[in-house]
Amino acid sequence: MADQPTNETVHTLTPAPPAASHAARISETPLPRKPKQDRAPEDDPGIWRMSRRNILWVGGWLAFFGFIVTSTIGALRYMFPRVLFEPPTKFKAGRPEDYVVGEVSEKFKDEKRVWIVREREGFYAIIAICTHLGCTPRWLPSDNKFKCPCHGSGFYKTGINFEGPAPRPLERAYVGIADDGQLEIDRSVKFLYEKGEWGKPGSFLEYKG
Ligand code: FES
Repeated sequence: MADQPTNETVHTLTPAPPAASHAARISETPLPRKPKQDRAPEDDPGIWRMSRRNILWVGGWLAFFGFIVTSTIGALRYMFPRVLFEPPTKFKAGRPEDYVVGEVSEKFKDEKRVWIVREREGFYAIIAICTHLGCTPRWLPSDNKFKCPCHGSGFYKTGINFEGPAPRPLERAYVGIADDGQLEIDRSVKFLYEKGEWGKPGSFLEYKG
């Protein structure tokens, strides 16, 4: 027997709308915001990224520190003035008996720029500075004279000039005897021939040894 329709409500199933595709759902979903980056990537210069303001700021500080440093150096130089430390002009030159009569000793020529001349009657000291332009003459024993290598001035053993452009004799320095019996020379005390000073005490030391 065929089935008869009944009064019972027939429930028909309404087809469900098709489910949205996975791709469509992704496109509708708002993209999450990219979080702020806390750390600079390795190639990011970070604080060293120089904007124009940074450059001005750094330049200002550099100028300030430069000013401080130069000011400090200037103040220190003012507090400690430059002083030329020259070797002492007074020195001891050994015992008189160590010198040979008739000889010009060059023992102190390089260090003190002084020759010590021993004569039969005593000693005198000649400053080894040419009176032309200040070169250091040479003692030539074979010629018995001082000769300047710069412009050819010549001086007798006494220091008197006799050739070349030197306008006056060599200068003499003080010579005396120290408390301990040694010769004492003082370059700061000078005796000039042209002023008649070679006869003054100290310009010549009498010594009969
Ligand atoms: S410096 Fe000695 S002759 Fe000129």
